[in-house]
Amino acid sequence: MKIRTIEWKRGCIKLIDQTRLPGKLQYLYVRDLKVLWQAIKVLKVRGAPALGAAAALGVYLGIKDSRAKNFAQFKRDLERVVKYLASSRPTARNLFWGLERMCGAAVKNKDKSIGRIKELLFKEAKAVIEDDRRICRRIGYYGAKLFKSADNILTVCNAGILATIDYGTALGVIYRAKQEGKRLKVYACETRPLLQGARLTTWELKQSGIDVTLICDNMAGTLMKQGRIDRVIAGADRIAANGDTANKIGTYNLAVLSHYHKIPFYIAAPSSTFDLSIKSGQGIPIEQRNGREVSELFFKRPIAAKGIKIYNPAFDVTDAGLITAIITERGIIRPPYLRNIKRIISP
Ligand code: MRU
Repeated sequence: MKIRTIEWKRGCIKLIDQTRLPGKLQYLYVRDLKVLWQAIKVLKVRGAPALGAAAALGVYLGIKDSRAKNFAQFKRDLERVVKYLASSRPTARNLFWGLERMCGAAVKNKDKSIGRIKELLFKEAKAVIEDDRRICRRIGYYGAKLFKSADNILTVCNAGILATIDYGTALGVIYRAKQEGKRLKVYACETRPLLQGARLTTWELKQSGIDVTLICDNMAGTLMKQGRIDRVIAGADRIAANGDTANKIGTYNLAVLSHYHKIPFYIAAPSSTFDLSIKSGQGIPIEQRNGREVSELFFKRPIAAKGIKIYNPAFDVTDAGLITAIITERGIIRPPYLRNIKRIISP
């Protein structure tokens, strides 16, 4: 399927409004930083690598009209934009990685004119996008080696085209396997409460000609027990130095179930998702979201008693010990993770 989740187009950020899918493929043209912040917050743009791209493009959007006369003034403007975007969502490492990459590019060129620094930041943001396209394809290349033809694959949330620029991490592996002639069958967990699996994963897999079946999250155990799942693959929002992995809430359940049923459980993620400054999953910030996402179906229809107490963490952490392998663009990382992540991911 030839679509781009997010890109720079004619002076603004063009992104797919993912809250409209699967009903409508509608684009949003963002010219204002506040609109971008809100789009990130309400998941119009979402998925860790796409958030990295949104952060990079957002920095350019935020500073392109800066009237700074020297680098000190420009840096103040830049820091204001970065701080603002960093306050949108806390868990995906890629968002912060995108912001840091842009700051690094500015500082590296601090001796140039402000006009030139702006040009270079634009170039950097576009490089983030092109890198993601290449990196996801590398992840697909390595990951597809792990899949046999006719495997039944279970996935959760959306780690596909819509979570990246145009290919995906976990779903990128599936796209690559298909390209290699493997005939996979995919089961997609609906992914309560915001239904990224039902709305987004089934949509893009179907468009791409992949055999996909939707299940409710609580059906996964039964499918495994029936021998209908050969492998599980998910994306990641942040991976600690020891391999503990934050991903969409419900991923941990699948990892525990996979362990019990002796089914390989894979994580697919770019190196920009790793956070080596965090020792273990305990240090990963977990986003808590509005309870209305749980008590109402898409903020429209109530499905719980009025005024009920709600707990709504958007992510959970899967212990490294439950992960068979982590597929990255630099190759497949296997346990012991502490040593192997350091070896493969450290610059
Ligand atoms: O809340 P979301 O939809 O941004 O959560 C996204 C996920 O959990 C994805 O699985 C993760 O970002 C990996 S995307 C390649």
